[in-house]
Amino acid sequence: MASRIPQSFIDDLLARTDIVDIIENRVNLKKTGKNYSGLCPFHKEKTPSFSVSPDKQFYYCFGCGAGGNAISFITEHENLPFPQAVEELAKLAGLDLPKDDSPQRKNEHLYLAQFKILDLAAAFYQSQLKNSTAKHSAISYLKSRGLDGAIAKRFAIGFAPPGWDNLIKTLGMTDTDQAHLERSGMVIRHEEKDSLYDRFRDRIMFPIRDMRGRVIAFGGRILGDGKPKYLNSPETDTFHKGRELYGLYEAKKNSRKLDKIIIVEGYMDVISLAQFEINYSVATLGTSTSLQHLERLYKIVPEVIFCFDGDKAGLKAAKRALETVMPVIRDGQQAKFLFLPEGEDPDTLVRKQGRQHFEALIKSATPMSEYFFNSLSENIDMESIDGRAIFSSQALPLIQQMQPSLLQQMMHDRISEVTGLSIEQLASSNQLHEQYDNSYQQMPEQQHFTQSNRQTSYSRPAHNSPRTAYSPRKKRTANITLVNRLISLLLHHPHLITLVDDISDIAQIDEANTDVLALLVKYWRSHPKASIGQMLIDWQDNPEQASKLLIISEVSRLNPCPDNNFQQMFLDSWDKLKERKNDLIYRDLKNQQTSLKSNLTTQAKQQAKLYIEQIAAQHKKKQQ
Ligand code: GTP
Ligand code: MN
Repeated sequence: MASRIPQSFIDDLLARTDIVDIIENRVNLKKTGKNYSGLCPFHKEKTPSFSVSPDKQFYYCFGCGAGGNAISFITEHENLPFPQAVEELAKLAGLDLPKDDSPQRKNEHLYLAQFKILDLAAAFYQSQLKNSTAKHSAISYLKSRGLDGAIAKRFAIGFAPPGWDNLIKTLGMTDTDQAHLERSGMVIRHEEKDSLYDRFRDRIMFPIRDMRGRVIAFGGRILGDGKPKYLNSPETDTFHKGRELYGLYEAKKNSRKLDKIIIVEGYMDVISLAQFEINYSVATLGTSTSLQHLERLYKIVPEVIFCFDGDKAGLKAAKRALETVMPVIRDGQQAKFLFLPEGEDPDTLVRKQGRQHFEALIKSATPMSEYFFNSLSENIDMESIDGRAIFSSQALPLIQQMQPSLLQQMMHDRISEVTGLSIEQLASSNQLHEQYDNSYQQMPEQQHFTQSNRQTSYSRPAHNSPRTAYSPRKKRTANITLVNRLISLLLHHPHLITLVDDISDIAQIDEANTDVLALLVKYWRSHPKASIGQMLIDWQDNPEQASKLLIISEVSRLNPCPDNNFQQMFLDSWDKLKERKNDLIYRDLKNQQTSLKSNLTTQAKQQAKLYIEQIAAQHKKKQQ
């Protein structure tokens, strides 16, 4: 590292890192009240005195006094120098270390000064809701929108009073302060007069905060009608519209473990939903949802729900969102689409119908794959061959952009099903021959994936992951192992498990991936209605199961059954597996026989021999 890592980067990194996640991966932690505790990794102990605070993002050991933040934990635990520890965490957070000549490095003091001035601006606007002579108009507007004091406080809502120079007079004491105000977009230079004036005047002010809670920009709404309705800060050093999401900080702050996030259109939607205790919505800032938005969200939650107005503009936005999300999504992640009745937005709807109704809508949102097929086939006559050809020519390129995943395969399968064309036919009609042929060679058969592979599929940022151009099923049915065949069949048709009896201790059978099969069988026995998507999501929460997801994803790509006779194949394979288990029992008995011989009385030996012969005979009979 040539120069010092800027403090602003470190702040940002810490803001995006959850210390509990970091430590949980290395130390067994239990939740104890607000904090987590476990055995201290820095000294030997039998009872836990090591504690991690998610609120303070701090760890401390009452036994040995070790303590610090996520970075110091990594330096101590992994014995890494500071810069490497930062690099390690940055990788996990998906942040690139600022290059030596990046603006953030060169102008670090400017960044810090801008954060400070924006923070002061937010405080000023908040105070104006109490102190401005014009406060009544603001307060009555907020009341007319149904907002109460508590929610205004939570989102740090403020008021920019009427007038051209309230902010500049308050915060722009010195030339330097004025320069910071200008650089952060809060004041505008009047070129002719060469003077500065406030950007935001007579508006309700919504501070936009980054993950750390620092104010990085503002949105300002006019009181009542008028144009522009909303005014946003311009792009500045601290604010990049295409990356930021309004409400994300507030949502994260409200709950440490979010399981889903809903993307809505406006500031008021986020705030109203939060007022009704739906504390997991965010809004893009007048832009459509970007790749960066999604990559950021999927680092935080496995499920993202896009919410749209039910009008034409909403449908158009949904199509755009679909195209943005498809290349991002991985196994274990979900995208859903929610369309509101025409004329409503989340703000109006939740106020009319309440929380329960709105949450029911969220639950019933359309999964991505379904929306994909519905929206693409919408204006196409799927009964005609031409129509189906058009459909597949539109659908395939989009599916081709997806991450290699079970979902991608299911969507391929679905296209085959809908169009009645095989993947091969589809591929040739779309000139995808070449990639298709290449994909045959991509994976050695029976590859056994080890634990060390598992991280790659889940924590890698989407843009630098290797991607096979097009990976339809392989035909090498003959080479697939028995266990992998069963796994793959189960993945594609979970209900098959209901057709067979249990085999005890499948994992003991000495073959690759029997542990995975055993877990899958157990899962679908206890969740007979679970879809594969549900399975993937459930498994992410359990370390043992999560560690198998990569294997599952790979095995699912092997095609066990090209002729659709999957049920018979499953039953036959299951019988074979049972035989292998019996072989194992038989071998065990044989071994026991040997050891018995040396220890038993003659009479007992005779009995044992008889017994073993009986079992052997049964075993032989079964095999015939
Ligand atoms: P309310 O009328 O206050 O309920 O607004 P809303 O939150 O329902 O906003 P709307 O659906 O009209 O717009 C959604 C979002 O688009 C807003 O939150 C803004 O981010 C953005 N937006 C709306 N109008 C304007 C505008 O005039 N200028 C800019 N720059 N952005 C706007
Ligand atoms: Mn609205």
